[in-house]
This record gives sequence, structure tokens and C-alpha cells, in this order.
Amino acid sequence: MSLPPDEPPEDDDGHNWTEGKSDDEIADMYEWLEAAGMVGAHYVNEPLEWLTDRVGEAVWTKQAQILESVRDHKRTAVPSAHAVGKSFTAARAAAWWLDSHPPGSAMVVTSAPTFQQVRAILWREIRRCHAKGNLVGYVNQTEWHINGELVGFGRKPPDGDEDSFQGIHAQYVLVILDEASGVPESVWAGAEKVTTTSDCRILAIGNPDYEGSRFDQVCRSEAWHTITISAFDSPNFTDEPLPPGAPLVDADWVDGIKVQYGIDSPRYMAQVLGQFPSDRLDGVVPWSKISEARLRDLGDQSGEIVMGLDVAGPGEDETVAWIRQGDKALAKHVFRSPTPEGVLAEVKQAILKAGVTRLNYDSIGVGHFVSVGLDDLRGVSMTAVNVAEAASDKARWANKRAEVHWFVRENIGSWDLTGIDDVTAEQLAAAQWFEDTKGRVQIEKKDDIRKRIGGSPDSADALQLAFWVEPHAGSAMSGFWSMS
Ligand SMILES: Nc1ncnc2c1ncn2[C@@H]1O[C@H](COP(=O)(O)OP(=O)(O)OP(=O)(O)O)[C@@H](O)[C@H]1O
Ligand SMILES: [Mg+2]
Repeated sequence: MSLPPDEPPEDDDGHNWTEGKSDDEIADMYEWLEAAGMVGAHYVNEPLEWLTDRVGEAVWTKQAQILESVRDHKRTAVPSAHAVGKSFTAARAAAWWLDSHPPGSAMVVTSAPTFQQVRAILWREIRRCHAKGNLVGYVNQTEWHINGELVGFGRKPPDGDEDSFQGIHAQYVLVILDEASGVPESVWAGAEKVTTTSDCRILAIGNPDYEGSRFDQVCRSEAWHTITISAFDSPNFTDEPLPPGAPLVDADWVDGIKVQYGIDSPRYMAQVLGQFPSDRLDGVVPWSKISEARLRDLGDQSGEIVMGLDVAGPGEDETVAWIRQGDKALAKHVFRSPTPEGVLAEVKQAILKAGVTRLNYDSIGVGHFVSVGLDDLRGVSMTAVNVAEAASDKARWANKRAEVHWFVRENIGSWDLTGIDDVTAEQLAAAQWFEDTKGRVQIEKKDDIRKRIGGSPDSADALQLAFWVEPHAGSAMSGFWSMS
């Protein structure tokens, strides 16, 4: 970047830097900025023209609305479907912000739940845009420098540390929260702290997670301008031309979600419709509780290490196990050996490797096979859980299956499910309950779940078994026999 010819004109008001200035003063400022390589200065109020003229890119309607909202509103929230160009747009907002404001007066701070997301998603897009537009300054993996000064950076601040954003003192601060659903409370607070003046902006963008979450609250708040994006709004579903080279969401992808999870699923709500999934009244485990548990990091646990094993019978789906320690789900194992003996060998290996001290396994059908197959394991308590049996309280639950499901509903509030995958979360939320003729909790048939979600909820069943504690624990447990 070449050095400017003279000192820049004063920029001493507290508002938009063109506001209250005479045309001559603005012209002087532009001249100086242009000499400094800041050709984008002309576009401080024209993000769309900036993108076309400076970078040569096109956007579709909702992307344009986001950019204009960042210009016009202090806080913009974008709950949206999968692959509609959210991160792309957020990156363009960042680049436009830094390229069009006077150097030294603007700053962009970005965050996302993980460092990987910061670097590989948003900053990858920022780097691309910077290179394509040959924009001012220098951009590395997660930072933008102009004249040796840091003007933009991406961080995954440590949880609970509101001050990670401190030390940011620029007149024009833009904070971008990508994948906003997973951004911890401390970062939301930090974002507010560094955007106190009316010149500053916050853009929170991402998939909706669950009703009542921080992101949901923000999207309902009057302080935020909210732009909801459904997959069906996007160019592959409308007459609008697809921006060149944009692999946006299409009908094939939406159909896949429909088949795999069903149109009632939280996933369809969030990733296709861009809406916050609500808790079904007839759902056993509320989606909001699962989502909260997925954010509840309890750190290392010291309790017993338990494996829950859902054994696939002949011709059935996979054999799946979950391992938990204390209140934390640790790892999922899928056993794919073609023979039952092979599966058992794999299970045994996983038990020994993880130091499992208790095994809860589904004893229906192939349960006997498990107990015989693992009888040489020492130091592992084995519990055969037969969900067809009567419940411990026969007036409350129609059978043990209902009791085990209900156990999750009543205890998930203290569990750390940060380690579970999306599929397991969906399966966990799938089961519905009803009151039977005797007024007891009954769970719908597994076949009905299977039909609705397009497969067996094996992983959720294994997770349930991992956390399940027999109600008479302490004394010898029913259905319990120890090999130790
Ligand atoms: N207007 C555009 N022009 C060119 N490419 C685009 C445009 N919008 C998006 N893309 C590209 O489309 C792909 C998907 O966009 P992006 O990652 O921004 O979507 P997203 O909504 O953030 O997706 P996710 O739901 O995975 O977070 C990316 O490769 C991005 O570069
Ligand atoms: Mg994205």
C-alpha cells in the first residue's frame, strides 16, 4: 500500500464519518483514502455496490438484505437454513466494513463456537474475498492487518471470559458471530461490551438451535433486526438466478433430510425452514433439553465408566455402544463385524480400552449371547436390561421401556452431552409418549419411530442404556449379575 500524500483530514465527530461534513471535506477525505489504497471508501453506505465493483461478486436477495441490515441496524440476527450463503455474506460484511471505513477507525471481531469454525469457515471466506478484490492490507489465517495494525481478528474466546474482546477501541466496530447457536454466553456479553456506540454493529448468524436459547431470544428481541432464511427462499427453489459458482442448498439435499429425519424433526425445522425447533408436547425428551445438554461441558468426570450396548440381532441395523463417565457422555462405538463373534470381540476390546466397569445391555433377543460371549471379562458388572419387563412402578409406566425413556427425560438436566453427534441427538428427541388406558406413560412402538425417522434409534437406545441406573441401585440390582 502506497503512503498517502498528506495528512488525512480530521475525522473528529462521533458518528458516520461522512455525516455533518461538507462535500469538499468528504471529497478531500476520499482523495486521501484513495491515495492510501482505500478505494472502497466510496462505498461506506453502499455494501452491494461495493461487492459488485470491488470484488466482482453477486448475491441473492436475502444475502443482500443481510448486508443492508448491517449498514442500517445496530444488531442483525439471521437464523437460517443450511447452505444458503450465511458465512459467505458475513465474510463480505467484514471485508466491506474494513475496506470502506477510514483505516484505523474500524475494527472487525469475529467469533464462532470453535477455533476450527473461526479459521476454516469465516476467515477462509474473508481471505478469499480479500484476495479476489485485492483489498487493502494483509489477511492471514484469522487476522487482517492494515499498515501493520491489527484491524480484524477471529477468536474463540475461552468460556466464561467476557473480557476476551477487551482492548478493542475503534469508532466503527463490527462483531460477527457465526454459528451463533453455539456461541457461549460470555461471547454475547463481550460483543455487547465492545459495540456500545451507535456506529457499531453486531451480526449474529447461524442455524437455529432450540426454542428459548440465547440465539432464539435475540431473534425475538426488538433490539435486533431479524432476517429468517428458509431453504425454500433460496435461488435453487425460486426463479432467482443462482449467484455464479455458489453451491447453495438444493432439492436433493432437502429431500435427503426429509427422508432421513422426517418433516417433523428438529433438523428439518432448523436446517430446512430456518426456524427454531420447538418442544413437542408428546415428545419424551424435549429438544431444548437435549440442546442444552450438548452445551453443558462438565469437564473431566471421576465417576464409574459405563457402557450402554444396543445389540443388533441378525439382519438388523448396527450394534451401537455409548460410554459415559459420571454425568458425561464420552464416546460412541459402532461395531460392524459381519459375525456376532466378531462384534463381541470388538465390544470386548472397547470395554478394555475405555476401562469400562459396568455394562448395561439390551437383553432382548440376543442378550444371552452377550452374557455368554463376554463371560471372561473380569471386573465388569453386567446388567441385562429387558425393556419388555414390568416397570419398577407399575402404576406409573406401562413397562420398563417407558421407565427407561422417562429416566432420560427426568435426568438429562444434569448430563453433559457435549460429546454426542447430531444423529444421536435427533434419535433421542424422536420418541413420543401417550397415556395408556390405565393412565400410565406408554412409549410409541419402535416401528413407528423407525418409520418416522427413517431408521432405528440405535444410538439413542445405547446412550439411554449407558446412563440408565436401576431404581434399586445400592442393593443388588434386579437383572444384575457380576462377573467379578
Ligand atoms: N453469493 C455467492 N456467490 C458465490 N458463492 C457463494 C455465494 N453465497 C455462497 N456461496 C458459496 O456457497 C457455499 C455455501 O455458502 P456458506 O458456507 O456461506 O453457507 P452457510 O449458509 O453458511 O452454510 P452452513 O449452513 O454450512 O453454515 C460456500 O462455498 C460459499 O462460498
Ligand atoms: Mg456457515
